[in-house]
Amino acid sequence: MNPGLDELQPYPFERLAALRARVAPPPGRPLINLSIGEPQHPTPRCVHDALVAHLDATAKYPATRGLPELRTAITDWATRRFELPAGGLDAERHVLPVNGTREALFAITQAIYSRRPGKPRVAMPNPFYQIYEGAALLAGARPFFLPCPAERGFRPDFAAVPASAWQGIELVYVCSPGNPSGAVLNDDDYAVLIELADRHDFVVVADECYSELYLDESAPPLGLLQWCARHGRDDYARCMVMHSLSKRSNAPGLRSGFVAGDADLIASFLRYRTYQGGAMSVPVQHASIAAWRDEAHVRDNRAQYRAKFDAVLACLAPAIKVSAPAAGFYLWPELPVDGISACERLLGEAGVLTLPGAFLARDVDGYNPGARRLRIALVADLDECVEAAARIVPVLNNL
Ligand SMILES: Cc1ncc(COP(=O)(O)O)c(C=O)c1O
Repeated sequence: MNPGLDELQPYPFERLAALRARVAPPPGRPLINLSIGEPQHPTPRCVHDALVAHLDATAKYPATRGLPELRTAITDWATRRFELPAGGLDAERHVLPVNGTREALFAITQAIYSRRPGKPRVAMPNPFYQIYEGAALLAGARPFFLPCPAERGFRPDFAAVPASAWQGIELVYVCSPGNPSGAVLNDDDYAVLIELADRHDFVVVADECYSELYLDESAPPLGLLQWCARHGRDDYARCMVMHSLSKRSNAPGLRSGFVAGDADLIASFLRYRTYQGGAMSVPVQHASIAAWRDEAHVRDNRAQYRAKFDAVLACLAPAIKVSAPAAGFYLWPELPVDGISACERLLGEAGVLTLPGAFLARDVDGYNPGARRLRIALVADLDECVEAAARIVPVLNNL
């Protein structure tokens, strides 16, 4: 067996299932589940219509590169959204469809990790989306956890990592906007990171799957390709971004996203994916074209999350100091006690399920940055989120 399998950590939801098995919610109160980052707003009609209209295409094998119309819809969208120069993102060379970012975030490390001497590590933020760690372990690499201190708004502190560590790193995952903190990397963060990538010869994979769920309509989060375009890095050298329709378009079951960036990396990834079997079904490609070409449902989606953050934060204010993130749909409050016991009490006394921060982070030098935090996903509808907030306030006041 692949020795990495034995090193995989239990997935956060396995650990949460064990917690649920030992804590019963209060009788007579329906459980409100704010633990999973699964969008609950309906998938837009235009996406369903396109899927149904193309069901006959299941009779064909799809190509791994995807339909040219899909790659064009993606490049049009990304060019508009990230203010890229006209023609700066080439649908032939810079873009590939993927079946959601999860599989692509995993596969990219399998494709890139070279096992060359002196480059044993894959870096990732801490806390993080656990697929990054599993991808590193199953490729035979060692994970390296980047510090993301609260004082920096949870943005990775690249400058705090010694040069000796960078030398051993072959790939760096960043997640912007971040899960669970919602932190967005700024221009300076990327300047530091890309200079390090050039100096120490590593690839940067930016997981941007929450990029469209920002709270300030006038301030969409900076993307890595956008940073490249601003700074004349027209070939996106060493840079790849991953995007998804799961959160943007409330379509986690569609399994649709894309990877874009450095043409050489994309060519190698295409080669890898041809063998892996990463082609997207043709009806899903058509549904994805409809989704990338429509922005109205995305604005509406943002408005719904904004309303939830406003209402929930107003409700929580007397109990806990927590502010809205720049983007995403999570709250990541700090607690006076450890997150596991807080989660147990919120479940047992209020019937509200959250996720302990420790399940999303690793101990480094004896410190777990999620230990005294909870992740609260505002995915349920507005009334349910407000009811959950009202139920948890008295428990938080008594922690
Ligand atoms: C940070 C992050 N990246 C990637 C994903 C995977 O999303 P998908 O595979 O649906 O695109 C998730 C899902 O929750 C996530 O939180």
